[in-house]
Parts: sequence; C-alpha cells; structure tokens
Amino acid sequence: MNSLRTLRVGLRSFQTSAASKLAQATDAPASVKAPLLKTFEIYRWNPDTPDIAPKLQTYKVDLNSCGPMVLDALIKIKNEDDTTLTFRRSCREGICGSCAMNIGGGNTLACLSRIDRDTSKTVKIYPLPHMYVVKDLVPDLTHFYKQYKSIEPYLKQKTPPPERENLQSIEDRKKLVC
Ligand code: FES
Repeated sequence: MNSLRTLRVGLRSFQTSAASKLAQATDAPASVKAPLLKTFEIYRWNPDTPDIAPKLQTYKVDLNSCGPMVLDALIKIKNEDDTTLTFRRSCREGICGSCAMNIGGGNTLACLSRIDRDTSKTVKIYPLPHMYVVKDLVPDLTHFYKQYKSIEPYLKQKTPPPERENLQSIEDRKKLVC
C-alpha cells in the first residue's frame, strides 16, 4: 500500500515538473532576427489589361526569412505578398532554364543568382530582352523553339538505325570525353 502511495506521489511530482518546464519553454522569447529588407523592382505587364502600360513594381523582402537566391525571393513575393506575380520556374537548380530572366542588367537564371545582401542596392528584374512578353517575367518562347528545332541539335546516324538501341563501345565513349 505504501509503495503504491509513493509511486503516485512520484508520478504527480514528475507531472508538475514536466508541466513547469513546458511552460518555461513556451514563455521563453524566441530569438527572432530583425528584418533585413531588400528592395526588388519587378517588371509587370498584364495582357488582360493591355491599356495599362508596363511598369516596375516595388516589393520589399525580408532576407532573414528568405532563401539565398533571386528565385527564392520571387517565390516568397508570390506566396506571401502578390499572387498575381507571374514567372516560370521548374527545377530550381540551373538545369531546365525556365527561370531565365534579366536580373540587374544581365540575362541569367533566377535560381542560380544569389541575392546581394547589401540592402542599399535595389534589384531590378525584367523578362528576357528582345522577346514578346506573355505576362510579367514570362517571355514568349515560340520563336526560340522554332529556331532551336531548325538547327536539329542532336546526333544523327549515317547508317540505318538498329532494331533496338545503339550500344556504345568503350572506344566510342572515349571520343566523347574531351
Ligand atoms: Fe530550372 Fe532555374 S528553375 S534553371
């Protein structure tokens, strides 16, 4: 009987101590970094309102709660600030090319462009130049794909194709390595 009472007292003491620790943890102020606001000026144009001329729209992004790349900032703006902002992206690792745009005067990939953390400098973002614009940062790639197709950028076989795949010999492989 005594041992049961001791067990109950021990359990109650454990619960009180755990509850007190939990309360302390929840009351403790979280260490929050002060916002580091960077200004982005982004080209906007909407085909649904063609009478409104294209303009640069200003957005402020807290770099302390944003990934390091310009594409991260664009995604943050779209998710948290302005869902109408339109741009292309896919792989987020510099492979597909879909996030190509003009950033700070250079044509580049937004997912590979690191944001300059100097907040005194504004980042200006435009769609790729010399192309029609579908909306905001999305260029019309129809002409590009026509040109790309016309140059037939793939290996062509001089002999009739095999029934299955072309097997590559070790010697052939060596020819491809520079
Ligand atoms: Fe694919 Fe940037 S998202 S290259």
